[in-house]
Amino acid sequence: MMITESASGKLILFGEHAVVYGRPALAVPLSQMRARATVQAQDKSGIVIRARDLKRELSVKDAAADDPLATIVRVTLAALGVTGNLHITVESDIPPASGFGSGAAISTAIVRALAAYFEKTLSRTEISALVYETEKLYHGTPSGIDNSVIAYEEAIRFVRERAPETAGSSRGTARAVIRPFAIARSFPLVIANSGIASPTKMTVGDVRRGWEREPARYEAIFDSIGVIVEAAQMAVARGENEALGDLMTQNQRELERIGVSSPEIEDLLAVGLRAGAQGGKLSGGGRGGNVIFYVEEDRVDEVTRALPGAGAVSVIVTRVGGTTTGD
Ligand code: PMV
Repeated sequence: MMITESASGKLILFGEHAVVYGRPALAVPLSQMRARATVQAQDKSGIVIRARDLKRELSVKDAAADDPLATIVRVTLAALGVTGNLHITVESDIPPASGFGSGAAISTAIVRALAAYFEKTLSRTEISALVYETEKLYHGTPSGIDNSVIAYEEAIRFVRERAPETAGSSRGTARAVIRPFAIARSFPLVIANSGIASPTKMTVGDVRRGWEREPARYEAIFDSIGVIVEAAQMAVARGENEALGDLMTQNQRELERIGVSSPEIEDLLAVGLRAGAQGGKLSGGGRGGNVIFYVEEDRVDEVTRALPGAGAVSVIVTRVGGTTTGD
């Protein structure tokens, strides 16, 4: 028997970083990019994982305790109460370290494929909790938003319930309130990939050090981001999408103040805005990864054409909302 399951990528629309500190954030699945995992029995004993894109092959038994691929297999088999001699192949068309949630998507695909292979059912919350175990390895102190939006595969508002633990003590699942949010009118989003791989662990760590040094200043910035997120959620619920451009730009300004932007991101933003985008911001950890733009329908082509000249290695147009989210 051979079972293949997949999981989507994701984008954070508003609220990254502040979400680690208990403020709300909005995220959407990006179904046009997917990670896939295939599980089949093997004759040899043990479990082998082959990650084609990462050019890695590893034995779960011999892998380091903090290896994310081995970890997701170990925790999932333990949760399912099963074991076996398995060959797991992982493929992904989600670029890593770009803010598209590639790590969480690969982990989610593996959890889904293992559950299906053993004919077990896991709820979205259970899948999300298992994937969170590997997010901790990638991110240090993740909020849990990536694993949630990918396991739920719908537009979500995410609020972490408690303050982040100190580095190194992030055991257990972060409790969070996760709710789908309404999008009255779908809208296009232009996504420019800067091509700069920027590990989220680094920017999250730097923000933490900044917050430890100047807690009041950082808390005030996180509060402003929280207000922007509320306004954005209200705007999309009412179909007032034209407010999103300004709100994105305001969110970007706050992210600049906590040091997670970069000259490359700001060049892309400047060119996108000059080409007619109504607003934009970095998405995800920052200092690289993606820049997203809110663009009225009739300017999408112009903005899309301008961005490669400003250093974008790829530009994607997606639709957010309705039944076509991400397709
Ligand atoms: O870099 P990404 O897209 O995986 O997003 C990270 C989002 C942060 O808010 C920066 C961190 C987190 O754990 O929420």
